[in-house]
Amino acid sequence: MTAAELRRLFIDFFKSHGHVEIKSAPLVPENDPTCLFTTAGMHPLVPFLLGEKHPAGKRLTNVQKCLRTGDIDEVGDPFHMTFFEMLGNWSLGDYFKKEAIAMSFEFLTEKLGFDSKNIKITCFAGDENAPRDTEAANIWMSLGIPEKNIYYLGKEDNWWGPAGQTGPCGPDTEMFVPLDRPDCGPDCGPACGCGKWVEIWNDVFMQYNKNAEGQYIPLEHPNVDTGMGVERVTAFMQGVKSAYETELFRGIFAKIQEVSNNPDATFNNRSARIVAEHLRASTFIIGDGVKPSNVDQGYVLRRLIRRAIREARKLGMTEPFASKIAQVVIDEYSPIYPELKNNAEFIIAELNREEEQFGKALENGIKEFTKLIEKFPPNIENKVISGRKAFNLYETFGFPLELTQEMAAEKGFTVDEKGFKEAYAKHQEQSRAGAEQKFKGGLADHSDATAALHTATHMLHQALRIVLGEHVEQAGSNITAERLRFDFTHPEKMTPEQLKQVEDIVNENIKKNLDVVCEEMSLDEAKKRGAIGLFESKYGEAVKLYSIGDYSMEICGGPHATNTSQLGTFKIQKEESSSRGVRRIKAVLNH
Ligand code: ALA
Repeated sequence: MTAAELRRLFIDFFKSHGHVEIKSAPLVPENDPTCLFTTAGMHPLVPFLLGEKHPAGKRLTNVQKCLRTGDIDEVGDPFHMTFFEMLGNWSLGDYFKKEAIAMSFEFLTEKLGFDSKNIKITCFAGDENAPRDTEAANIWMSLGIPEKNIYYLGKEDNWWGPAGQTGPCGPDTEMFVPLDRPDCGPDCGPACGCGKWVEIWNDVFMQYNKNAEGQYIPLEHPNVDTGMGVERVTAFMQGVKSAYETELFRGIFAKIQEVSNNPDATFNNRSARIVAEHLRASTFIIGDGVKPSNVDQGYVLRRLIRRAIREARKLGMTEPFASKIAQVVIDEYSPIYPELKNNAEFIIAELNREEEQFGKALENGIKEFTKLIEKFPPNIENKVISGRKAFNLYETFGFPLELTQEMAAEKGFTVDEKGFKEAYAKHQEQSRAGAEQKFKGGLADHSDATAALHTATHMLHQALRIVLGEHVEQAGSNITAERLRFDFTHPEKMTPEQLKQVEDIVNENIKKNLDVVCEEMSLDEAKKRGAIGLFESKYGEAVKLYSIGDYSMEICGGPHATNTSQLGTFKIQKEESSSRGVRRIKAVLNH
């Protein structure tokens, strides 16, 4: 079964059960400033899962473009991808568990051809928020799934959502099918971790709304949200080990081989996989209007492209190639995602520009390397390039360690790999801080004025949590030398009294001349201490924790004032709506 056949089979099946096919939403969420990318089929449907009427009706189905950035560093192994397609069907307050499970069962057994004895199921085990889902289990059993093949697992496994901080969520039931290999033992199943049982579908019973206070409020109309990964299921159906071996990537690898003239650049090659995966993802991201940059979606895109270019060098690709790979993606995926074709020129131009820019950095890096070698006295015994110098080549010119090592070997040198890794690890800590700044909206300069406003932002954040409640989370921040701008989650307009209270709390604490202290620690430790801040971005373990006396504790990259006495008087200028569920405050410090 090809991916195209799978998509068609799924959509047609649900159409025959009264569903309307809707278009894939863009990869950049249209109404959710708290997420950089669309991460699931339900993501664009959140307002409708919460009760708003969908123009296409109560039964929907589609294939949705998704991007998840948590595992970028894992890409290259057989399983992890940043971009993927998700098939889904939805009931918006229409059918519920019985019909949803019956349709899943019918599709799995009659359309995909699985024997019901070869399907294992997990259901929610129950906790203080929601009961054990024996209802779902009973439905599965009534359809012919043996009781011994049904497992109850906790919230980590059998609960889905909300996609952001708040929103629709609920218990789910997941379907697993076996790889063709022996059981790992008598308990082999979805929970044993040996990998034999592959999850291929997830039916979520979206019957709660997690509110800003963290409570699970039953929804008036419970919904169904399901998700099936196209890449994973296609690979499974074809009996191959990864999506890279399917036709979804065949044309891409053929082009990589042609451009690199390297017979080893196959779907088994880690570098070739990274080139293929990252450039497929990049093509889709640019196709939705994003350009490479140093902030937000553009920053993720840049990381993907540069990582692909670096890996391509290892395969011997020196000619500009990114747009050639993109052209294959455009040709192959446009029938389903016509935006790729419509934006083809833009995609090609942006990739060419980014590749050219980075290519230049590589050239300059080669010059730097040559100078470095020439500095060694001719007859020196200890021909080792220090880790710090190798890291400088990596950091400043984007030189992979392997490239430096290769070039060094040609000249009879080695590279201090351990020293490189140490320098790299140190940089990771710092770049986490830098990346956070980027994601927070960019601190353009590091002047005293911006540092003071940054500290004021933390104080404002804390005061909002005191006055409005702990549901307040940062949704965005932007600081210039003149003012701060802070976006935060809160459902309604603030009253003048609340604004005054917030201002007073900040000013009272400024007057206490509190020291601002920065400590480095692991993310876990910071969380344990009760720090607030952006936990999502995963740029390495160590984080900086900024404390303002006992008043505020927040994970952040800095820079900050060293004492609140440097801040002056805090004044809110404006409170307004930023987007759905997000408010915006602009404020200044008067000296
Ligand atoms: N939203 C569910 C998921 O992503 C279906 O697994």
